[in-house]
Amino acid sequence: MPYRSPGSPETPRPKYLTGKPIRYYRPRGSADIRTLIEDGFQAFNAARLGEACRIFTDKMLLPENDTTIGLTVAGALTPAGLGGCIVELMERGLVDFVISTGANLYHDLHYALNFTLHRGSPFVNDVELYEEGVIRIYDVLFPATVLLETDLYVRDFLVRSGLAGPVSTAELHYALGKDLLERQPGCQEYSVLAAAAAAGVPIYTSSPGDSSIGMNIAYHELMNDGTLMVDPNKDVNEVCAFILAGKKNGCVILGGGSPKNFYLQGQPTLWEVYGIPKGGNDYFIQITTDSVVWGGLSGATPAEAVSWGKVNPGVLPDTAVAYVDSTIGFPLFCEYVVGAPTGRRPLKELVHRRDELVAALKREAKEASKQHPQPDEPLETMPDLERHR
Ligand SMILES: NC(=O)c1ccc[n+]([C@@H]2O[C@H](COP(=O)([O-])OP(=O)(O)OC[C@H]3O[C@@H](n4cnc5c(N)ncnc54)[C@H](O)[C@@H]3O)[C@@H](O)[C@H]2O)c1
Repeated sequence: MPYRSPGSPETPRPKYLTGKPIRYYRPRGSADIRTLIEDGFQAFNAARLGEACRIFTDKMLLPENDTTIGLTVAGALTPAGLGGCIVELMERGLVDFVISTGANLYHDLHYALNFTLHRGSPFVNDVELYEEGVIRIYDVLFPATVLLETDLYVRDFLVRSGLAGPVSTAELHYALGKDLLERQPGCQEYSVLAAAAAAGVPIYTSSPGDSSIGMNIAYHELMNDGTLMVDPNKDVNEVCAFILAGKKNGCVILGGGSPKNFYLQGQPTLWEVYGIPKGGNDYFIQITTDSVVWGGLSGATPAEAVSWGKVNPGVLPDTAVAYVDSTIGFPLFCEYVVGAPTGRRPLKELVHRRDELVAALKREAKEASKQHPQPDEPLETMPDLERHR
């Protein structure tokens, strides 16, 4: 088949786009779902999901723990309508920062811009879809024009925003979210990027070139001579600074992938690189379908993370991995959390504290560097992970 863009805007495509529109689902704290999780989820991965829910509500969210909570997002969650769960957690102050694949943020833009993605089937003829200009993400179907129009919005935004020079992805996404709030009033109800800007939640992308947002930033440089440059060093230091500032630290990891490590590497960045032994994560929750035996990071357990100083060795009871499709496990988790007495906290608004906290990281790292072994001295022991606890 000769190469061309999938379909054309003129092609009629009635057949595949008749499924119900996908809407962002907002969890409401259903008492029935809480009962199911408490009384019905008694063994195997159901019980692990129940443990994850209780670690989150009964420990991570306790006001006295003041846990700084990172949410990491991989897998096609916004296309599946799960952005509403993320919006709900952010609005309630239940996650303080987010690390996501670029794809989830790019596809969130379709919702923010009021384009429609449809429920469909994975058992379709993809050559026909291609002919008709329909894009498929497993069983989510939408016209290729949605991609083109979303790309146009991103490119217009890049010009309009005047963003230039090196920026962190949090700054980029904050500007994008503010732009959406201005141009699509009310869209914080159904857009992760807009809701994050409204709630002051910084959103990072661990591989910024690896999505259609990154593709359009590349266009901006090549075609507009734009100087905007996503600087991963800023991302690394900002995330590290949040973790350093946290009284306790905990994460909810959806899927795995590079967002998972980008969060977890914060602790090794502190002890291994900056010589600041923070002590490892206090809480670790993961909902994934990946398995440990392949040796990939997505499947790695909290126990393995202990060996890296990513998770504190004393807290393994406060970790849970549920081997569940996160399109099932995450909404259940959110229903439980939203219905819990601890299901709302004051917003930390870390997006506005990035400079201040990075400055604090720098001060502490400079101080620690005075005690670093010189390059010609052997490093005999790992720093004492308990020192700061
Ligand atoms: N055009 C775009 O914008 C676009 C579209 C798709 C993907 N991408 C890029 O491709 C890369 C890969 O993204 P990805 O989201 O496929 O992540 P990924 O393939 O890295 O997935 C990471 C892990 O998450 C787990 N996982 C995935 N879905 C899950 C689910 N439903 N339930 C439980 N666990 C699940 C799996 O264990 C998987 O190994 C990203 O960098 C993304 O930005 C870009």
